[in-house]
Amino acid sequence: RKGKTPEEVVKRYLQKVRNPPDEDCTICMEALSGPSGYKGPGVGGISRAESVGRLTQCGHQYHLQCLVAMQPAPGKMEYHVIPHSLPGHPDCKTIRIIYNIPPGIQGPEHPNPGKPFTARGFPRHCYLPDSDKGRKVLRLLLVAWDRRLIFSVGTSSTTGESDTVIWNEVHHKTEFGSNLTGHGYPDAGHLDNVLEELKAQGITEEECLPRD
Ligand code: APR
Ligand code: ZN
Repeated sequence: RKGKTPEEVVKRYLQKVRNPPDEDCTICMEALSGPSGYKGPGVGGISRAESVGRLTQCGHQYHLQCLVAMQPAPGKMEYHVIPHSLPGHPDCKTIRIIYNIPPGIQGPEHPNPGKPFTARGFPRHCYLPDSDKGRKVLRLLLVAWDRRLIFSVGTSSTTGESDTVIWNEVHHKTEFGSNLTGHGYPDAGHLDNVLEELKAQGITEEECLPRD
């Protein structure tokens, strides 16, 4: 596998601190001499005994568990046009969006900070008609992605697995030529539904303007 895990990155740029100073960790605001404010088990090989680290470049000190939890979740959203029509949209081509999110460690915004999360079924492929309205939805989805509103971490209602990446409140069509799952085409109301769901998250066309 390419890329470093958060634990590997942390270990590389960090020295362990044997005697933590009488200061607070500015991530969790708890004393460095005590445990991290994040709940959950020790993260990937970092025991709670050696729990404070000093960043070699800047000298700042934090709980190791807090640093690992702070790593931004990497992920990718890509899209391109494919030369086929979706059922119900015979007059245009199709936009395919590909989301990829690797598993990682939950951050402060997740249900169990410091605990690992899984990521199933990635890359996930989704489809939009390449029409004016479909392109508008795509523009808004890109904004939603930047704001991290497309996915969240929680319990999958499909699989029952907890601490995993799940679709958030914005529906996507993951089936291309059929509709066996109910997440396919044709679905005449889909684009309007998605625009409503995006609006509920505060994302509207005005948000995307002005553009250059
Ligand atoms: N395609 C698109 N949306 C889906 C799918 C699917 N196959 N399954 C569920 N959803 C929608 C649900 O309608 C709900 O609104 O995602 C929302 C969250 O449902 P969960 O089951 O909790 O989400 P998740 O576990 O992420 O999805 C399960 O979706 O893309 C697939 O590979 C993925 O098979 C997995 C399935
Ligand atoms: Zn801390």
